[in-house]
Amino acid sequence: MTILEAIDQRHSVRQYKDIPIAPETAEKLRALISACNEESGLNFQLITNEPQAFDVFLAHYGKFKNAVNYIALVGNKTIADLDEKCGYFGERIVLEAQTMGLNTCWVAGTYSKKKSGISLNAGEKIVCVIAIGYGENSGVEHKSKPTEKLVRADLNTAPDWFKAGVDAALKAPTALNQQKFVITLEGDEAKITTKGGAMTKLDLGIVKYNFEVASGRTVN
Ligand SMILES: Cc1cc2nc3c(=O)[nH]c(=O)nc-3n(C[C@H](O)[C@H](O)[C@H](O)COP(=O)(O)O)c2cc1C
Repeated sequence: MTILEAIDQRHSVRQYKDIPIAPETAEKLRALISACNEESGLNFQLITNEPQAFDVFLAHYGKFKNAVNYIALVGNKTIADLDEKCGYFGERIVLEAQTMGLNTCWVAGTYSKKKSGISLNAGEKIVCVIAIGYGENSGVEHKSKPTEKLVRADLNTAPDWFKAGVDAALKAPTALNQQKFVITLEGDEAKITTKGGAMTKLDLGIVKYNFEVASGRTVN
């Protein structure tokens, strides 16, 4: 499966099979997480087989089943654009995980440091977690806002790379499926902005990653 196919096939999955992540797959995931941490300065961690810990995150969400593995998106509070960075690198991992036959769901729940099994260095915080495992289902495609609400450009005349980016951006997960972003074509460059609000910076990083990987362009 290519990353573009992963963008198409990824949907949030909240019910997982009661089987552990295969050791070689977990190894691949850990290597990817290390590479992302190296590049970003973040401290993402894969926690596996922690039913009790995950209970804390999901206490308020009845829909989850067998969610015992997760990636904790951790970073130092002083990092510039911490939320956006977590979204960007988190989505990179989510899409790679999809190609490995895994399913995911972003979870912005509350947490208890003590029970979570996550190690935090001084000054660090958990921004979000991503549940991960073998889904009982593949999830369903989310409803998207009309393109006119999300894009400021004439798609009839826009270049192919921009259209490919928009298509992938609209398939990106956002908190509560809020899609509070706007993609603008300015000359030969794409810009993605958000008006703000809860979790919109995390969403922005996620959406930018999808756009970049599908368009082959860097976004401001
Ligand atoms: C930052 C973020 C936080 C999220 N938090 C939760 C959550 O706490 N509980 C939950 O069930 N889904 C959560 N989601 C999943 C969204 O509801 C989901 O991505 C959105 O409805 C779009 O659906 P899709 O992921 O299937 O495309 C979150 C998604 C994002 C991006």
